[in-house]
Amino acid sequence: MKLWALSDPHLTLATPSKAMHVFGEVWRDHEARIAAAWSRSVGPQDVVLVPGDISWASRLEDALTDLEFLHRLPGTKVILEGNHERWWQSIVEVRDELPPSIKAVSADHVEVGDWLVFGTRLWEHEEVAVDDLIAWNRMSDKRPDTRTQADRERNEKIYARELGRLERCIKALPARPWLKRVCMTHYPPIGRDLVPTRASRLVESSGAAICAFGHLHSIKPEHHPPQGDLMGVAGDVRYVLASCDYRNMEPVLLDES
Ligand SMILES: [Fe+2]
Ligand SMILES: [Fe+2]
Repeated sequence: MKLWALSDPHLTLATPSKAMHVFGEVWRDHEARIAAAWSRSVGPQDVVLVPGDISWASRLEDALTDLEFLHRLPGTKVILEGNHERWWQSIVEVRDELPPSIKAVSADHVEVGDWLVFGTRLWEHEEVAVDDLIAWNRMSDKRPDTRTQADRERNEKIYARELGRLERCIKALPARPWLKRVCMTHYPPIGRDLVPTRASRLVESSGAAICAFGHLHSIKPEHHPPQGDLMGVAGDVRYVLASCDYRNMEPVLLDES
């Protein structure tokens, strides 16, 4: 049984007018390439983490088209809300509608295979050093030089709220010594410098050995595998950027039992 991650598929099956290749050739035919790579790698007993930015749909009933696409791929999927999830208004409603092979975490946890998977979305914050990794374009967040003091204050507020959610989620994790703890976040909890942040300290306090995340797109080529494999290991946690464009639409292996 293997544990994989592939984040930020930004599926457009429910919103065909949304052409992802405008964000770069790496996105051309991305759904077909995801399906092909996923089916090559992932077995029916495996688990795949998809930590956010799943569908461009605005309404849950539309997002089901994209969720059905994920459902038809092999394995059990564990999803998390990204910042683009306009269709994800209520975890109760989302769970009610999920196809059977998809589970969701939302500042809580699921037990799946040999893993106890938990996490929350997090948010962007200047203490997480990622700006130098990115070739800034339309796919990216606000360029660092255009961020205002109001942006920074807003980010601090949302980030602090997300840290509270993550802390409560970790405190509520059940004792399951036979399961390996795995964290998933949408935003990176740590930067390329691997300098501890409030988020990474929480992750590292949880007993997780792996944290998979996404959100970052258009990473400069010098940081792509095999030259690099963002972010690295800090405090006994392996931090893994799983964004589709960074991984060339191929799931990244996290663990095997
Ligand atoms: Fe995102
Ligand atoms: Fe994204």
